[in-house]
Amino acid sequence: VPALSDNIVWHESSICRCDRQQLIQQKGCVIWITGLSGSGKSIVACALSKALFERGKLAYTLDGDNVRHGLNRDLTFKAEDRTENIRRIGEVAKLFADVGVICIASLIFPYRRDRDACSVFMDVPLSVCESRDPKGLYKLARAGKIKGFTGIDDPYEAPLNCEVVLKQHTEDDVSCSPRQMAENIISYLQDKGYLE
Ligand code: PPS
Repeated sequence: VPALSDNIVWHESSICRCDRQQLIQQKGCVIWITGLSGSGKSIVACALSKALFERGKLAYTLDGDNVRHGLNRDLTFKAEDRTENIRRIGEVAKLFADVGVICIASLIFPYRRDRDACSVFMDVPLSVCESRDPKGLYKLARAGKIKGFTGIDDPYEAPLNCEVVLKQHTEDDVSCSPRQMAENIISYLQDKGYLE
């Protein structure tokens, strides 16, 4: 989105991204986790953050729900506000990555047009998320007490391309723990050279 104001000038920093990364011995990046409410995004983000911490890597999670308590408290769940939510989280995530932190952006992120790239898809069917209903929101949405709830009366467009797809069960029907899911993401980060 272009800036609305004229006469604003970009200032270059005297220390570049590679200098900062060298100082803290870590490469910054952004991991986008998308999925329905109740798909386990926050639990996996938390497990990932902990697993990285144990490897001496600093990560920080921007969780959609949490960011909506502060920076994005003025945004609703209308389509344009969801897009703005993602834009702002993307900008903040970029700053974290620029510092050298591994930023985990965990949000529903429902529309394909807002997702030109996505790292992790929590591939959990609506029926499962709804049966979990950890916050009781699906029940309220089904009763018409929440309008425009993702998966009920607002779309969730599953990503077509995603680097890591996490399902509840392996192909042998063994259930996956949040820690195992986090390790899958870590393998991906290792392959990409982010954890050297
Ligand atoms: S989005 O679509 O990316 O802007 O959503 P996000 O910022 O991740 O916020 C999702 C959390 O907000 C709660 N909530 C709703 N979700 C979807 N639709 C509607 N209408 C809605 N109203 C409130 C819900 O707790 C989501 O949290 P998670 O962690 O996904 O369960």
